[in-house]
Amino acid sequence: MSKNFDVVVIGGGPGGYIAAIRAAQLGMSVACIDDWKGADGGPALGGTCTNIGCIPSKALLQSSEYFEHANRHFAEHGIVLEKSASIDVAKMIGRKSKVVKQNNDGIAFLFKKNKVSFFHGRGAFAGKADGGYEVRVGDEVLTGRHVIVATGSTARALPGAPFDEEKILSNDGALSIGAVPKRLGVIGAGVIGLEMGSVWRRLGAEVTLLEALPEFLAAADQQIAKEAIKAFTKQGLKIELGVRIDGVKTDKKGVAVSYTDARGEQQTLACDRLIVSIGRLPNTAGLNGEAVGLQLDERGFVAVDDACRTNLPNVWAVGDVVRGPMLAHKAEEEGVAVAERIAGQHGHVDFNTIPWVIYTSPEIAWVGQTEQQLKSAGRAYKAGTFPFAANGRARALGDTTGLVKFLADAATDEILGVHMIGPMVSELIAEAVVAMAFRASSEDIARICHAHPSLSEATKEAALAVDKRTLNL
Ligand code: FAD
Ligand code: NAI
Repeated sequence: MSKNFDVVVIGGGPGGYIAAIRAAQLGMSVACIDDWKGADGGPALGGTCTNIGCIPSKALLQSSEYFEHANRHFAEHGIVLEKSASIDVAKMIGRKSKVVKQNNDGIAFLFKKNKVSFFHGRGAFAGKADGGYEVRVGDEVLTGRHVIVATGSTARALPGAPFDEEKILSNDGALSIGAVPKRLGVIGAGVIGLEMGSVWRRLGAEVTLLEALPEFLAAADQQIAKEAIKAFTKQGLKIELGVRIDGVKTDKKGVAVSYTDARGEQQTLACDRLIVSIGRLPNTAGLNGEAVGLQLDERGFVAVDDACRTNLPNVWAVGDVVRGPMLAHKAEEEGVAVAERIAGQHGHVDFNTIPWVIYTSPEIAWVGQTEQQLKSAGRAYKAGTFPFAANGRARALGDTTGLVKFLADAATDEILGVHMIGPMVSELIAEAVVAMAFRASSEDIARICHAHPSLSEATKEAALAVDKRTLNL
């Protein structure tokens, strides 16, 4: 006997679970299918983000940052440790797992509260049905008038070097290393490489990142990227750009990565463990999209239009399994917009105001266009920057690295992009997102009262700098 729902969501990550909750809020009957298994084999809602992504990585970043503060920065404040702090890795990993579990349980609670029916297992299209689609999960068949595919992504392996999660680690293994490795190699100096590399460097590993591109953080504003590579190198991360990986070999002792460096010379990196963080691939295997004729694009993502419609009527797809940035908040926005469209409302995602954050120290955050993008588009712009070194709160914190940068239209002063590197910019960026969503000018921000002393004053000062009238520099 098939169970009928207005909406069947396949995938319980941030795209899927948020879509399910929003659809239920709008009065629809909703099922969500997710196959993630927790340590006890039971459901663990939240997908990559909650289980092996955003949440556990931020837990380890926090623990390792406290550790680094204790050993490197407490003394500046006159706090004396009789011995240097040591790290109990098992306890740190245990705490991370507790944080993950709290989030898993939180989503299960939200499903109950919103009356979303949850099915644990792999969802696969079984065929078209009267007024909808059949989706099989275990022995059950669910019929959805609408189906939302939110199956997410998984780590891409290097050809010839599959993940064993012992020596060659994806993000999964990188978040569960049992003891600090002496030498840690990282292939790909992108978001995961920098966040995970920072965690294990702070705890004492010698970390080397090998990056294929000649530019560091090519997607970021290059003024910010230059500050970032300076700061990371000073902390002890070794970053080699423009390399070509030729092979990876493992033996009892560890891992040997042979590569060609930017000068064309053959090199070998010997390490105890290797994180491979070279991007992610969409999850479509096992979905049996062929049964209904679901189209993929040339890169294997589910093909969708701007409104997340697939080629099939009433089948939608959101999050990492479709084009666009692989970010939890992008997946959530798409999930909400799709649920609202199904309900006949005007769901909307503004791709121009999706913020990016890299949770290293200093943190990096941006929204909108970079200077290099504006230049290549031939757009006339004005720029204003303000360094945290001139911000009173940053001095009091003892964390003055970095700057805030505004880019505004030369004629209208509309904010086109805001780029930040420094303390807590993961939080400061929200003001810039709001400003851009309301199509504010840099003068709007410059005229708004910001609390003193606060890091947010650097945002105001950078906006003032667009008009060359900073007050504290
Ligand atoms: P997912 O979270 O991948 O969820 C998909 C779910 O569907 C999974 O549970 C999967 O098992 C399940 N599934 C797949 N196929 C089926 C099927 N056929 N049947 C049933 N279930 C299925 N983003 C940020 O915005 N901020 C961050 O700080 C951040 N940190 C990250 C750190 C790491 C280490 C990683 C790897 C990613 C990070 N991300 C971050 C990215 C973020 O995790 C993803 O963008 C987000 O999880 C995508 O959400 P999603 O719902 O599309 O997919
Ligand atoms: P990424 O795209 O951020 O970085 C991958 C890096 O690997 C790139 O710099 C790329 O040039 C490099 N690379 C690719 N192939 C290579 C090769 N063969 N040899 C050497 N270098 C190579 O991808 P990453 O770090 O794997 O993360 C995946 C996604 O997860 C991110 O794009 C992001 O969307 C999401 N994420 C978001 C976070 C956040 O928001 N704070 C944190 C972590 C992940």
